[in-house]
Amino acid sequence: MKSLIQKYNIPGPRYTSYPTVPFWDASTFTKEKWISTFKHSFDESNSSEGISLYIHLPFCESLCTFCACHKHITKRHEVEEEYIETVLKEWDLYVNLVDEKPIVKELHLGGGTPTFFSKENLKILIDGLFKKAIKHPESEFSFEGHPSNTTKEQLQTLFDVGFTRVSFGVQDYNEKVQKAIHRIQPFEAVEQVTKWSREIGYTSVSHDLIFGLPFQTKENVIYTINKTKELQPDRISFYSYAHVPWVKGVGQRGFNEDDLPKNEEKRELYEIGKDLFFELGYEEIGMDHFALKTDSLYKATINKTLHRNFMGYTSNKTQLMIGLGMSAISDSWYGFAQNVKTVKEYQKIVNSGEIPVFRGHILSKEDEVIRKHILNMMCHFYTSWKEESTQIENIDMHLSLLEEMQKDGLVKIDGSSLSIPEHARPYVRNICMAFDKKLQQKQPETKLFSMTI
Ligand SMILES: C[S@@+](CC[C@H](N)C(=O)[O-])C[C@H]1O[C@@H](n2cnc3c(N)ncnc32)[C@H](O)[C@@H]1O
Ligand code: SF4
Repeated sequence: MKSLIQKYNIPGPRYTSYPTVPFWDASTFTKEKWISTFKHSFDESNSSEGISLYIHLPFCESLCTFCACHKHITKRHEVEEEYIETVLKEWDLYVNLVDEKPIVKELHLGGGTPTFFSKENLKILIDGLFKKAIKHPESEFSFEGHPSNTTKEQLQTLFDVGFTRVSFGVQDYNEKVQKAIHRIQPFEAVEQVTKWSREIGYTSVSHDLIFGLPFQTKENVIYTINKTKELQPDRISFYSYAHVPWVKGVGQRGFNEDDLPKNEEKRELYEIGKDLFFELGYEEIGMDHFALKTDSLYKATINKTLHRNFMGYTSNKTQLMIGLGMSAISDSWYGFAQNVKTVKEYQKIVNSGEIPVFRGHILSKEDEVIRKHILNMMCHFYTSWKEESTQIENIDMHLSLLEEMQKDGLVKIDGSSLSIPEHARPYVRNICMAFDKKLQQKQPETKLFSMTI
């Protein structure tokens, strides 16, 4: 008999949006419609709650062969200035569309590697953004740092302009795994940047770990978490390795599929990690995050204000998130839009005075209701369709897709609400898939998603 993991480990979305990117409907989208939803959302929310900004800084000096992010590998640091100028021009294009100054509540620098950029250029970027914007009194600024190239001066510069959160890519501390993913990174590098961040005054330091990497064993995960324990990060992302070698430009290579732990073996790595995090005093947040009880993500979980968007889980929900930079995705709450995916094209379009989005989706009323349920399940492991505004057409069809999971004890349906028991949390993506109307209407013919478990 198949185990639950074998049964439910199928390709599925990570639900950082609904509809998920491969199911965006081009017929709903034009650049003009995108701009109109942006303006509408801005007018509705800027003065009351503020907006979020995501800046994609794509450059990395060396390719890690496990990485699924949008990046551009180069050692030529001359690219920095022109890229930052372009991001600031793109920001101007948005700011010129509205009458008030944007009030920025959340700002995140992601990548690629934000710490590829010199401290001077990072400062030019942030100062440039705030020439045209105001900081929200409860703003939270965060960035992703690479332990191998983050300097104390960069940390200080970003702290001085308002950053209090930083996450560092760790992945795994074992040499064999590090060799396979082309990322030799000693513990001492992570220790150094974590210590500097604390000395400078960062209130939240996060480490990214991954389970399911090539050659990774139980012993490797235990070793990595024991080393992590020494540094007590406030948050830990414990990502399931997403194997998506068919995605253009990701560059996943250097190991074979046979080198990857699969199904039960992979799930066991997660269970071992989870138990160790609990022992160390971390709480589980949503799908793949852990946080100390002092961290705002934990507080948001308790207060039921946890939110999920393209940046992952956040305690700071704003309805409008603008993504600047190559490949960045924006979310106006009524629509999504993604920027072109190469640096060259991005710079060319922005320099011609155009917002560089190349695809997107405008949400229908039905999409909005389904998104609400998916967000509820991904953030709170519960949803309810009692209220009229939360009702989905043909709910019985969706629930019938969950019958098997119900029998297997992975989901409880009680009248017009659904809950996911704690032991079934690893299956949350599968449960969301039953509500994903777009996926149900048209099953993908080609490989689109990583495995759910
Ligand atoms: C942009 S990187 C972090 C910053 C910096 N570039 C670095 O590598 O340290 C974002 C994070 O995404 C995660 N990530 C990248 N590719 C992944 C994959 N294929 N599966 C799961 N997580 C992945 C890694 O944990 C990585 O630290
Ligand atoms: S893991 Fe980080 S440094 Fe490595 S290729 Fe991906 S974005 Fe660049």
